[in-house]
Amino acid sequence: MEQNLGWELREDSFSPAEYQKNETLFSQGNGYIGFRGNFEEGYSKNSVTGSYLNGFFEFTDIQYGEIAFAYPEHGQTMLNVANAKVMRIWVDGEMFSLESGEVLRYERVFSFRTGVLSRKVEWRAPNGKELEISLERFVSQVRKNIAVIRCSVKALNFSGEIGVESVIDGNVTNLTCEEDSRVGSALHGRVLDAEAVTSTDNLLSMVQKTRKSGLALCCAAVHKADGAEAAEHAVQQLNCALRFAFSLKEGETARVEKYIAYQDSRYAEDYAGQAVSLAEEAAAAGFDTLLSEQEKFLADFWQDTDIEIDGDPSLQQGIRFNIFHLLQSTGHDGKTSIAAKGLTGEGYEGHYFWDCETYVFPVFLCTRPEIAKQLLTYRHSILDKARERAREMGHPKGALFPWRSINGAECSPNYPSGTAQYHINADIAYAVKSYWEATGDREFMEQYGLEILVETARLWYDLGFFCAHKGGKFCLNFVTGPDEYTAVVNNNCYTNLMAKNNMLFAAKMARMLGGWERFGLSEEEIAGWEKAGAEMYLPYDEKTGLYQQCDGFFDLEKWDFANTPKENYPLLLHYHPLVIYRHQVCKQGDLVQAMYMLPDEFRPEDKKPNYDYYEAITTHDSSLSNSVFGIMASELGDPEKAYRYFISTARMDIDDGKGNTKDGVHTANMGGTWMGVINGFAGMRVRPDCLSFKPALPAQWGGCRFQVTYHGSKIRVEMSADHTRYTLVSGNPASLCHNGEAFTLEGTREF
Ligand code: BGC
Repeated sequence: MEQNLGWELREDSFSPAEYQKNETLFSQGNGYIGFRGNFEEGYSKNSVTGSYLNGFFEFTDIQYGEIAFAYPEHGQTMLNVANAKVMRIWVDGEMFSLESGEVLRYERVFSFRTGVLSRKVEWRAPNGKELEISLERFVSQVRKNIAVIRCSVKALNFSGEIGVESVIDGNVTNLTCEEDSRVGSALHGRVLDAEAVTSTDNLLSMVQKTRKSGLALCCAAVHKADGAEAAEHAVQQLNCALRFAFSLKEGETARVEKYIAYQDSRYAEDYAGQAVSLAEEAAAAGFDTLLSEQEKFLADFWQDTDIEIDGDPSLQQGIRFNIFHLLQSTGHDGKTSIAAKGLTGEGYEGHYFWDCETYVFPVFLCTRPEIAKQLLTYRHSILDKARERAREMGHPKGALFPWRSINGAECSPNYPSGTAQYHINADIAYAVKSYWEATGDREFMEQYGLEILVETARLWYDLGFFCAHKGGKFCLNFVTGPDEYTAVVNNNCYTNLMAKNNMLFAAKMARMLGGWERFGLSEEEIAGWEKAGAEMYLPYDEKTGLYQQCDGFFDLEKWDFANTPKENYPLLLHYHPLVIYRHQVCKQGDLVQAMYMLPDEFRPEDKKPNYDYYEAITTHDSSLSNSVFGIMASELGDPEKAYRYFISTARMDIDDGKGNTKDGVHTANMGGTWMGVINGFAGMRVRPDCLSFKPALPAQWGGCRFQVTYHGSKIRVEMSADHTRYTLVSGNPASLCHNGEAFTLEGTREF
């Protein structure tokens, strides 16, 4: 048990009250398909049945009380698509359900080594017949379009008839929720039309089409049911089913395997034909082959990404759970990204935010750089839409990436905490820079990276101006930084620093790579970015050494934390935005985020006072907050505080720390967990010339081991309280730095 705790999520009894949360936790996915952890037989109460394809969306109409120019007209919602998870079991006319009969034994286990979700139930039907039911399912990490279910039913105390019904259900809708703006969509009722609903001897298939976004998908399932006597077909307008009948003697087992494929029109014109043939191929390979492919894939994956810690099994479980969910939810085909809730729920409607580049990207950058590259390729693919948006927003040049989107068009209806978050541009450029520093991939930079840098730098240069009233410094006005409790401000320090980084790096790359004609670049334009970057205005108070989060921040009244009842958090659900904006109160790191991301922009002696100042006024109402405060606590030499923050990140979803895990996992925080160990406790920073470490483990841990990739070299790091060992696992000698001492790693080096 102990040994497995770190490698699985387990439920030993069925808890109806936790069903929805557990549907999220037991979600499976592969970056394309996402299945919530719904029971195959269904559950009548409190269920959010969800099957998603990354980026498969429908447009919604945004209703404004009062519209203004360039407000986005359409939202986008990732759709709940045909549910192929449905398997129903019958014994002499009684349908298996945990809501009837008697549950004699129950166990559900989700393995991070295999990705298999398996449920074993011993159940006594109301008619007294006892069954042992085993349901195993996984979404293939190797075959993008495939998921599999194996359903085994053993007759425990009788001989008789067993029925297993397999269904594709097209009668699916998305969530609507009026009370919480973070959940639900404007889609009411069913929006996917089903066509070509088919059932043959062993095949089910269904085509679904959206009405507005022009997307179509096919879900197909091929079955193997050895020993079944007959298969009955049922085809209706919105679903199709196959019913297999078995005649079992006591102690015998009936088994049905379901090989599911989804394909959609973004990837293949003949998506319907492909879905069927991919399902057939999977069935021909068989369950065991698919499973061993999966195990091999995951063994390699964990080799690259695992973090082992000594002395804390429950945090160990949280770390692996979070890393595994990132794998499950991150698109890596260059056409998709990772949604705030991944493919595990409908919170934030399946939208991609800065969460990806700032929190998830760093994980893959240092473990699976090819996935990091695909995430940037997705951003490159939406550049045209970002250019269009820039024009709508009055910028004659450059590109403005959407604050939240699926297809690249801005769909945030709330501009103060949406469109105004221009920092998304710099966050993406920062990721391009990190990718360059960690890989040196020149081909990528020439083909994709430079264009992103140029277009984002252009936008900053157009947005800002050299303000005489601010000593001629370059100012950026009316934007919102990461902290959404302070909105539409002048000179947000984070934004200004990140824009500076963006413009200077764009200039550096443009000078280095040349090819200016492709982008119509001139010496004058590049020199402009350099000047704006060098002369960026920063709201710094010389007297105190404190940075104002933005102009005028210190003029605001401090929030009355002492008289704010616990139940009033998160504040956004209990106070009008203006009440919040009028106060010094932060939802999440902003200045602290800047200190983490741009360490060299701050004098070392300024970091602690600024951290202390902002920590005291931060609510951490955003799940993105804790990890960054934890990492900075590590940098500032307070491993105990860092550890406290870390605990809240590593188990945030497993323990439902935010109370809304039912709506989907918090993917940014999951990346933040990895960052908490690697960038926090190990103090790793990707630098242009080296990979540097400054380890400071929490006293509670005996040791910690992990692997990172830097310029194609794989490096294993083993740390204990007073000892660190670096081993070059593969690749060229690597330039590292340990507590300020630079060295070239060949073989092993110990400190
Ligand atoms: C946070 C944003 C984040 C979004 C999606 C909001 O609550 O303030 O920073 O991008 O959630 O996770």
